[in-house]
Amino acid sequence: MRIGVPKEIKSQEYRVGLTPGAVREYVAAGHEVFVEKEAGAGIGADDSVYAKAGAKIAKDAAEIFSTAEMIVKVKEPQPEEWRRLSAGQILFTYLHLAPDPRQTHGLMESGVSAVAYETVTDGRGHLPLLAPMSEVAGRLAIEAAGQSLKRYNGGRGILIGGVPGVQPARVVVLGGGVVGTHAARMAAGLGAEVSVLDKSLPRLRELDELFHGRVRTRFSSLETIEEEVFAADVVIGAVLVPGASAPKLVTRDMLKHMKRGAVVVDVAIDQGGCFETSKPTTHADPVYAVDGVIHYCVANMPGSVPLTSSQALNNATLPFGLALAAKGLRAVLDDPHLRAGLNVHRREITHPAVAKSLGLPFKDPVEAVQATLRTQNSRWAS
Ligand SMILES: NC(=O)c1ccc[n+]([C@@H]2O[C@H](COP(=O)([O-])OP(=O)(O)OC[C@H]3O[C@@H](n4cnc5c(N)ncnc54)[C@H](O)[C@@H]3O)[C@@H](O)[C@H]2O)c1
Repeated sequence: MRIGVPKEIKSQEYRVGLTPGAVREYVAAGHEVFVEKEAGAGIGADDSVYAKAGAKIAKDAAEIFSTAEMIVKVKEPQPEEWRRLSAGQILFTYLHLAPDPRQTHGLMESGVSAVAYETVTDGRGHLPLLAPMSEVAGRLAIEAAGQSLKRYNGGRGILIGGVPGVQPARVVVLGGGVVGTHAARMAAGLGAEVSVLDKSLPRLRELDELFHGRVRTRFSSLETIEEEVFAADVVIGAVLVPGASAPKLVTRDMLKHMKRGAVVVDVAIDQGGCFETSKPTTHADPVYAVDGVIHYCVANMPGSVPLTSSQALNNATLPFGLALAAKGLRAVLDDPHLRAGLNVHRREITHPAVAKSLGLPFKDPVEAVQATLRTQNSRWAS
């Protein structure tokens, strides 16, 4: 198959759909890979590195979109990109269509088959292509907290791990999923006193085993949240209720009882955030204070470390991408987890939750793809 990798054009996005290492895997499997000029600049991989990996360098996005049978990206296509997509092409990228009717209609009109990273599933009911970015964000959350705790940044002026004879920071993690676990691991590794709160008892049991008692686990309730948050130097917001906005676990009123110069890092800001006082910020201007509590609410944290993030993303997307490249849309019929990723197919919405949240009709993905393949076969036969 001919695979196309355009340069990301969304503001402040430096990741790339395929790393040079991933290109080698596609080429070794017999595919042709076209990479747009300077697509890898954000991760320090220039065109010669891609050429050495076996890619053909395309002069612009127009060449990529008109040549490729499958486009591999990172961010959702921007308006000028969805206008370049054409019927029969496969698009493999993050889409986040539920809150984005404009993009959804753009993709439907293009006739593309769009597989969204964020809805591909695995055998344990998890979202394997979302997890790597949560791992990155969880680890970054503690770096961000450490930076904001510095006195000249308005923080309490304490070192996360303390030093011998001086107590470390108290780090409280709300939500012990992927983000929360990686944040807890970093904080504990630095020597902080760490508590993780979660609503799921099985998850708390897993965390207790994982950290061998090094991290305190607490069932999340109004009382425990208050107790922990009021005593905290750092609070990491890492809750997720799939398909819903994040619950506001820390109210505006509660901030008054927190330590001045304490830091909250609301990683869940992409789902609205779990602090009532959170609003999205950017890498250029990441923090603000409310009642003396520093808020860090960057919605695309992994974008600040595009090299690590692109490699982590590619590790997860590669097997699915290779299956799509080898079998085309048949891969969606063969693998129920990849099928869960098919959001749009030839002008129809093929993901039930996306259809529901946009109030559009849902088309069963198996029926939709089978119908397309039947039409193609009968065309070839005649
Ligand atoms: N800002 C960023 O750049 C960035 C990057 C990656 C992920 N995220 C976001 O971080 C959030 C967490 O992602 P994740 O991958 O860790 O999700 P996850 O599903 O792995 O974990 C979420 C955890 O929250 C727990 N939870 C739900 N309700 C709770 C409550 N009331 N109290 C305590 N715990 C509760 C769940 O039991 C679960 O263990 C998501 O909103 C995700 O989109 C943001």
